Amino acid sequence: MPSLKRIFSIAHIFVVANFLGKGCCDDVCPHGVTNITREISGEFVYPSSGTYGANETKCWRIEVPKPYVGIGIIYHRFEIEECLDCECDTFSATDSYEDLRDGKCGRYSPDYLNYYNRLQGTMSTLEELDGQNVYLRLKTDDSIHHSGIKISFIIKSDSPDSGQQTFLNVSSGQISTPKFGSKNYPANFDWEWYLLASEGHQIEIKFESFELEQSEQCQNDYLEIREAYYQDPNLSEEIQGVFGAVLARPMCGTDSPREIHSAGNMVWVHFHSDSNDTTTYKGFKATFTSSESRTLSISYASSLVILVSLIIVTAI
Ligand SMILES: *[C@@H]1O[C@H](CO)[C@@H](O)[C@H](O)[C@H]1NC(C)=O
Ligand SMILES: *[C@@H]1O[C@H](CO)[C@@H](O)[C@H](O)[C@H]1NC(C)=O
Ligand SMILES: *[C@@H]1O[C@H](CO)[C@@H](O)[C@H](O)[C@H]1NC(C)=O
Ligand SMILES: *[C@@H]1O[C@H](CO)[C@@H](O)[C@H](O)[C@H]1NC(C)=O
Ligand SMILES: *[C@@H]1O[C@H](CO)[C@@H](O)[C@H](O)[C@H]1NC(C)=O
Repeated sequence: MPSLKRIFSIAHIFVVANFLGKGCCDDVCPHGVTNITREISGEFVYPSSGTYGANETKCWRIEVPKPYVGIGIIYHRFEIEECLDCECDTFSATDSYEDLRDGKCGRYSPDYLNYYNRLQGTMSTLEELDGQNVYLRLKTDDSIHHSGIKISFIIKSDSPDSGQQTFLNVSSGQISTPKFGSKNYPANFDWEWYLLASEGHQIEIKFESFELEQSEQCQNDYLEIREAYYQDPNLSEEIQGVFGAVLARPMCGTDSPREIHSAGNMVWVHFHSDSNDTTTYKGFKATFTSSESRTLSISYASSLVILVSLIIVTAI
């Protein structure tokens, strides 16, 4: 899958979060829930080494900040003791706290999962979970213990209905909100631009003008930029951006983004305005150019991970 490998950048951030054991306490998560907040991508590992313990019930919540709408998960290790109906040890990842009771078990070694993810193409093995909260839970008994789980996750963007798209396969050009300079952008305007450069090139985007409604977490009107990718590496028409590595988080107000440089040769630009037509502003105008790649190669191993910034979350 050569086209996938350039999605990734090599900047990694490592954060170690312990299991705090705070939050709610009931029969689903008697020892509480550990919150993972403000992370837009990361790697989740439990336990960090060795095997998980006896009689454990650990719960985590990954908070999905607005205007993002969910997360995608890829498994890199899944070794949970197998029993009928998973009544021994069980792991669950779900968008509903109540559904944490229904988990999965079984053993898929890292080698097998790497083989499987590579065979399918990383994006086709992505498990999608929608909503503003994603819960993880591991429950174990006191018999056999295995090495647990390792997953990477990336936050999911909203995307407009198909048809509201522009595809630009040119080495330089300009994009803007409609009637830029003479009118404010319209309400309910949702559009995605795909900027495509030749293989081996990178894309640079410069903002000449930027004026959007300011709102908390940019929930109302925003512009966001991610790397684009082929959902199925064999079908180049199936291009997407909602799970691509984040180049610019949703932006609003007059905080004009700095220059954006892609790692790969395909970029997804997404503009969204809400239905309130009394709060539309001037909009944005940007130019883009592509140039030959400066960084030579990104290691093949990182192509299996969708992350720009890699956060390791472990628990004691
Ligand atoms: C985790 O988040 C939930 C929901 O916002 C909150 O009720 C709980 O107190 C948080 N726990 C910790 C340890 O911050
Ligand atoms: C695990 O829980 C079972 C049932 O409650 C108990 O009999 C056993 O002693 C516990 N084992 C450990 C190692 O805590
Ligand atoms: C992609 O194409 C390769 C080679 O033609 C094939 O082996 C592979 O199964 C295809 N992958 C998918 C997901 O269709
Ligand atoms: C863009 O077009 C050129 C030929 O004009 C082609 O070589 C290149 O692969 C195309 N890029 C993408 C991403 O489709
Ligand atoms: C639109 O935004 C304005 C200014 O924030 C606000 O006063 C008004 O209530 C909003 N209208 C709707 C329909 O939400």
